[in-house]
Amino acid sequence: MSSQTMLNGEVTPVKKSRKDSNKVTVVLGAQWGDEGKGKVVDLLAVDSDIVCRCQGGNNAGHTVVVDGREFDFHLLPSGIINQKCTSVIGNGVVIHLPGLFEELKKNEAKGMSDWQRRLIISDRAHLVFDIHQQVDGLQEAEKGKNSLGTTKKGIGPTYSSKATRNGVRIGDLIGDFELFEEKFRTLTTNYTKIFPDIQVDTEAELQRYRKYAEEIKPLVKDTVSYLHSEILNGKKVLVEGANAAMLDIDFGTYPYVTSSNCSIGGVCTGLGLPPKVIGSVLGVVKAYTTRVGDGPFPTELSDETGRLLQERGHEVGVTTKRVRRCGWLDLVVVRYTAMVNGYTSICLTKLDILDTLDSIKVGVGYKLNGKKIDYFPSSIKELSNVEVEYITLPGWNSSIEAVRTWTELPENAKAYVLSIQNFLQIPVRYIGVGPGRDSIIDAGECSCPE
Ligand code: GDP
Ligand code: IMO
Ligand code: MG
Repeated sequence: MSSQTMLNGEVTPVKKSRKDSNKVTVVLGAQWGDEGKGKVVDLLAVDSDIVCRCQGGNNAGHTVVVDGREFDFHLLPSGIINQKCTSVIGNGVVIHLPGLFEELKKNEAKGMSDWQRRLIISDRAHLVFDIHQQVDGLQEAEKGKNSLGTTKKGIGPTYSSKATRNGVRIGDLIGDFELFEEKFRTLTTNYTKIFPDIQVDTEAELQRYRKYAEEIKPLVKDTVSYLHSEILNGKKVLVEGANAAMLDIDFGTYPYVTSSNCSIGGVCTGLGLPPKVIGSVLGVVKAYTTRVGDGPFPTELSDETGRLLQERGHEVGVTTKRVRRCGWLDLVVVRYTAMVNGYTSICLTKLDILDTLDSIKVGVGYKLNGKKIDYFPSSIKELSNVEVEYITLPGWNSSIEAVRTWTELPENAKAYVLSIQNFLQIPVRYIGVGPGRDSIIDAGECSCPE
């Protein structure tokens, strides 16, 4: 046991909590989003007490399929359908309250119950107003052909308000309505000066928010202290990343990114957790690649195979209903995001979508101006010009939907998984073979056996 010297010179042992070994599990998107994080969180929620969102807002769309019933979550952690889990919306999340209530109502109608007892919202989280969403649309329109293809959910404008210190927080709303009113009026006045076309009925909005304040008050807490004491009490905490590393504002394909840190750093800042409490970091990797919105995508397929992936994979955005762009798995991307996020294991999703292919390509290197590069380009221009080096693997031409164990997988499917595991040097723990809760192979704690 270590010791510390007190101011009076006395030496006392530093007490080590029995629960210091209790670590938080994190689920993060390893590509451009929609990897299947919702399904993985639902799977891991069974062994968790608390499921948290740490960043993003209702730009996210996470699907969970239980007994054929589909639930989609945007602001709510996907763990909310698990009766034994408490759900936390952390300080790093930006919350559109009308959207949140709509989401609660929609999921209640599908059978989600008793959420009032199990949902906690951070007093430090920032509010997304309708005006932010309008600004999102106007800014996109102003950019014209250079638009980013945002979800128009007001994410960028809200994080901008936060960064310029004009944001309004949940704590302002439930704490002192007069102060809230002042902040809200300043925000709308400033925006209407910049965007005279904005439509806002300030008085009606204030009335609406007076009602929301009463409704959410019982749910609001200092989630930082709450999480720390629950971790010390031995409670199992699971963090559900939203968006994905390639959309991260620092590490993604800037400016074609979202406005938060959707990589590991966002877990610490978005919940107030120190790095030392983080244990497993599960990187969710789709067996091919998709992207919604604009921006470079080196392995994109604009041919028949791209269409096949889109159709077989039902690749349509959960939030915006836009058709997702599809392409081969790009391991250069995943290796880069693994470096940033430090995945301790991989969950490979949607392997079943490749069932009908004779051969499958995987991007394993980039060349620029004919020369191999050993870094991931930060420049959009460079990334748009890379030539991808592929390996080609044989397909398995059979359905793996019913497979539940590693040994039952066709040899060529095993070879595909192993080549990913070997390239990344990270164990592939789970393999998704269908959208349902049970459609997953757990390869065990160790790497898939060679
Ligand atoms: P998220 O944003 O990362 O949670 O992912 P989305 O929910 O936006 O998109 C993933 C889609 O793939 C959803 O429709 C899931 O139901 C579905 N899905 C997840 N895992 C699998 C899988 O292993 N196989 C198949 N066929 N579908 C999957
Ligand atoms: P989940 O959590 C896929 C993309 C948008 C756009 C860019 C910026 O479901 O994986 P924003 O509205 O955030 O300012 O848009 O980021 N984007 C996502 N794409 N899945 C997501 O979330 C996304 N969240 C944002 O399409 O290109
Ligand atoms: Mg999604």
